[in-house]
Amino acid sequence: MSKVKAAVFASGTGSNFQAMLETDLACDVVLLVCDKPGAAVLDRAAERGVPTFVFDPKSFASREDYEAEIIEKLHEAGVTWIFLAGYMRIAGATLLQAFEEKIINIHPSLLPAFPGKDAIEQAHDAGVEKTGVTVHYIDEGIDTGPIIAQESVDIFPSDTIDALRTRLQQLEHNLYPQVINQLILK
Ligand code: GRF
Repeated sequence: MSKVKAAVFASGTGSNFQAMLETDLACDVVLLVCDKPGAAVLDRAAERGVPTFVFDPKSFASREDYEAEIIEKLHEAGVTWIFLAGYMRIAGATLLQAFEEKIINIHPSLLPAFPGKDAIEQAHDAGVEKTGVTVHYIDEGIDTGPIIAQESVDIFPSDTIDALRTRLQQLEHNLYPQVINQLILK
């Protein structure tokens, strides 16, 4: 039986994208969607032969317009699930309606604490004793959709932001593929 087809959306480094490809995923990642021409994640896709759709949002009149184009590419590729992994854009109604309850995101904090950018720095600077990672469905807000899974880590008084980031990334790279498999095989 052929596997479910998925797309990953990413804007940056792509360590989560790579972790998915290195895991025994219950789906095939058939497309990487990227809004940043030149992003490092594109090299990772090229190395592994994953097709990409790269777009520059500035060359579209609106979010609706670029999302309509993305949806066309997703349909052409037979994609039914979307995994956001460092995609630095808010999804609009066009995309959300086309893939209802099929778009999930990973965020490096225990949501609802520390949404948005620099979540790791925010937690570190707030002096909290624990932070973690969250996998959640997305909605039109910033890191506000229903939570699917969370895992926490301690923040030690001696922790630098980099040390904390490394621990959180390890957590992400394990948790995200696990949750993806659970959702797909459900
Ligand atoms: C991850 O920390 C993820 O939680 C957040 O963006 C970061 C992406 O990192 N949404 P990478 O590009 O996968 O290395």
